[in-house]
Amino acid sequence: MKKIVILISGRGSNMEALLAAREAGNLPVEVAAVISNRPDADGLETAARYGIVTHYIDHKAFKGREAFDHRLAQCIDEFAPDLVVLAGFMRILTDDFVRHYEGRLINIHPSLLPAFPGLHTHQRALEEGVRIHGCTVHFVTPTLDHGPVIIQAAVPVLDGDTEATLAARILVQEHKIYPQAVRWFVEDKLTLDNGRVRLAADLADSAVLISPGIR
Ligand code: GRF
Repeated sequence: MKKIVILISGRGSNMEALLAAREAGNLPVEVAAVISNRPDADGLETAARYGIVTHYIDHKAFKGREAFDHRLAQCIDEFAPDLVVLAGFMRILTDDFVRHYEGRLINIHPSLLPAFPGLHTHQRALEEGVRIHGCTVHFVTPTLDHGPVIIQAAVPVLDGDTEATLAARILVQEHKIYPQAVRWFVEDKLTLDNGRVRLAADLADSAVLISPGIR
């Protein structure tokens, strides 16, 4: 069975979606470890409840990004994962780190990339008045919140939406598309080929989820 390591910084609801899918028998994967850069991340307790090995590496204890990323990669590589899954991991990663995991490092971002990379995506979507918003799972490249798209889910932006209502609508979709993307990877149905996402032929239609309310 393929092995993954999940990196978190906080709540860890996407991580939990992966652990729950695995427990329900819907994700054939070994979760080798969950690693946080914050000792107080709530997700660490959740992971421990699922019986997963947890670690934290406090980025504040390191002089620079290089030193932290080097230690983080050492810790990850001890588990020899097939895939490294960023699940709300709030750190900018060095190019060296990203290159080391090329084709086996994925992220989830709460917008329809390439729209709204970076922080505060829901607030910015509301300010721009977009009618469709969503979330994206992508392979990680050295450019922040950029990289070959694996799967996206779109939701409507409704009159009266607040940052909180929009975030909640999108989080439901995040919890669907992340386990889906990881499942494809561990079932060898998803690869990165020369910077392009390759999905098994029968999956092309499944890589976009459209929520009710969008016609
Ligand atoms: C999610 O919205 C994810 O898309 C973004 O950070 C948030 C993490 O939430 N990268 P959680 O820790 O998975 O609950």
